[in-house]
Amino acid sequence: MSTDGASPPPYDTSTPSPARMYDYFLGGKDNYAVDREAAEQVKAAVGEMLCHATVWENRRFLQRVVHYLAEAGIDQFIDLGTGLPTQGNVHEVAQEVIPEAHVVYVDNDPIVLAHGRALLATNATTTVITADAREPDTILDHPDLKALIDFSRPVAVLSIALFHFITDEHDPAGIVAAFRKRMAPGSYLALSHLTTDGTPAEELARVEEVYRRATSPIVFRPPERIAEYFAGFDLVEPGLTRPWKWRPGYGPAGPQTDSLYAGLGRLPAA
Ligand SMILES: C[S@@+](CC[C@H](N)C(=O)[O-])C[C@H]1O[C@@H](n2cnc3c(N)ncnc32)[C@H](O)[C@@H]1O
Repeated sequence: MSTDGASPPPYDTSTPSPARMYDYFLGGKDNYAVDREAAEQVKAAVGEMLCHATVWENRRFLQRVVHYLAEAGIDQFIDLGTGLPTQGNVHEVAQEVIPEAHVVYVDNDPIVLAHGRALLATNATTTVITADAREPDTILDHPDLKALIDFSRPVAVLSIALFHFITDEHDPAGIVAAFRKRMAPGSYLALSHLTTDGTPAEELARVEEVYRRATSPIVFRPPERIAEYFAGFDLVEPGLTRPWKWRPGYGPAGPQTDSLYAGLGRLPAA
């Protein structure tokens, strides 16, 4: 979509949105001037190379972990904080291994639904819903999700580059717990998160300042806090680590940064 065309855009173009900024960081076109300006401020704070490497390191982790999960036989995915469609979306990676894999995409930014309808919900086994991860029961009880996800069987919940947009006040661990309660043994949680460990505090403070003016603030967390989100899950080897170190042979290799941590947890038998 051209966002600079003559017809007025159907979205709030006066406030930067994390989904549209991320699209810009990845080289996409579904963003507005306000998003690009904010994204450029982030690049100025941490450096353009690091910014580019971080988003691609994260995206490559997403693709490898979905590939791993599909090879492990997981055929249903809930992708929280989907982002705008790009290359190698969850259903594309999963359905290469299991053609009938079910995928529910969830994002609270309405632009994701609008673009996702065309590009993510490409078949009867994928759908996109607009919902807020801070209200997990709304997602879990959503009729479109219930139509595709059978909680009596293992499911993968993906929280990739989402929880750094959830402040402590909204209890990220509580969100995981709400999903965990419904998940069958053998289900998985895949998670990546921006961290305080590896980037100078003053650079992170400048990034936080940019996102304070966006539709969502950003929160960098130390690895021990991120590890808490896997409570109740057994971490799959190599555990909570830099995304580029997570099973690099399992798909496209990512750039290597110290920006993030990522891991995959498996829910053991009760
Ligand atoms: C950095 S993008 C990550 C996209 C994708 N998961 C990936 O890793 O490539 C974060 C996404 O989370 C979404 N998001 C932020 N807060 C959210 C919330 N409370 N509920 C649902 N989605 C949210 C944003 O709209 C954005 O699309």
